[in-house]
Amino acid sequence: MAIYLDFYGLARNPFNPTPDPDFLYMTHGHREALAQLTYAIQERKGFMALTAEVGTGKTTLLQALQRELDGSNTAVAYVSNSLLPFAAILEYMLEEFEIAKPGESHAQRLVTLQNFLVERFRAGQNTVLILDEAQNLYPQTLEQIRLLSNFETTKEKILQIVLVGQPELAAKLEMPELRQLAQRISMRCTIPLLSAIATRNYIRARLRMAGSTDGGLFTDAALARISEYAGGIPRVINTLCDHSLMIGYADQTRRIDREIAEEAIGYLAVGHRPRLRGRRLRARSRMTPVRWGVIGVVGGVLTGVGALVAMDAQIMSEAVRSAASYLSEMARAATGR
Ligand SMILES: Nc1ncnc2c1ncn2[C@@H]1O[C@H](COP(=O)(O)OP(=O)(O)O)[C@@H](O)[C@H]1O
Ligand SMILES: [Mg+2]
Repeated sequence: MAIYLDFYGLARNPFNPTPDPDFLYMTHGHREALAQLTYAIQERKGFMALTAEVGTGKTTLLQALQRELDGSNTAVAYVSNSLLPFAAILEYMLEEFEIAKPGESHAQRLVTLQNFLVERFRAGQNTVLILDEAQNLYPQTLEQIRLLSNFETTKEKILQIVLVGQPELAAKLEMPELRQLAQRISMRCTIPLLSAIATRNYIRARLRMAGSTDGGLFTDAALARISEYAGGIPRVINTLCDHSLMIGYADQTRRIDREIAEEAIGYLAVGHRPRLRGRRLRARSRMTPVRWGVIGVVGGVLTGVGALVAMDAQIMSEAVRSAASYLSEMARAATGR
């Protein structure tokens, strides 16, 4: 739990680094990819691939996909450990599909799976295997997964297979030994990087979902800087926003401005909070309108006192001198010099 929640009026941690369907915010790109995947599954397209950069929201989107498929007669096996050999993936699938007697040998398990898929197909049900982090799957595992798709009726696929991974997955599918698999992929989609506007909306949406009622918690300049550095990657955006709130809390600052965002970037890049001294000096040197106002009022009062004692030249020069030194003292304190 983040320590800054109370200070910023938040009920929950707004920038959790783990995928959390409660914080789902559908950008145009996420919505498009989700619609494509849902359609391809419902249309029994067989193989499909989602490739996108690290941290763009693939796993989060898969959770949304599973929710979407819930209650639509679709059974889903989700495999995220892509270092498993094929035999283990098969065992895992049988368990996910709650098949009571999967068989002793590998061949028996394959037959059990095939029977299960055919039965479901006949009953008008659909079955999906999702392989997350698929860029790590060994080529021979991918090839065995392709053979699973031989379980099909003449026209329709009885198992839908969603390969999800980083751009390396697309490169892997270009390998000569995987060309049969590459050819079978009937739908490819991606999650584009968030634009500056999408990034701003994403941050504000997550803050709202966490219970914030202050729409201006991050200034526009801070949002612009975070957006620029994060390059449209939600995971980086989350980290920068979390660091910003932490730094803001440490400084007891209600607004996250560009300077704080800049420090959060430094913190992310270097691993420790940099320019702390610089920030303190800068904070003292900041001449806010309030500070100028205080100087003005004090100056006015002292001038008035000076006028009242104008009869006595000695008292007056004394008053002017002390007013001047008080003013310069104030100015020095305010500008930090
Ligand atoms: N559409 C989204 N709505 C809310 N949070 C998102 C979204 N996309 C990504 N995130 C957040 O970004 C981070 C990385 O997402 P993740 O799904 O793990 O990315 P990937 O699997 O592509 O590496 C997570 O903290 C996740 O909550
Ligand atoms: Mg992931």
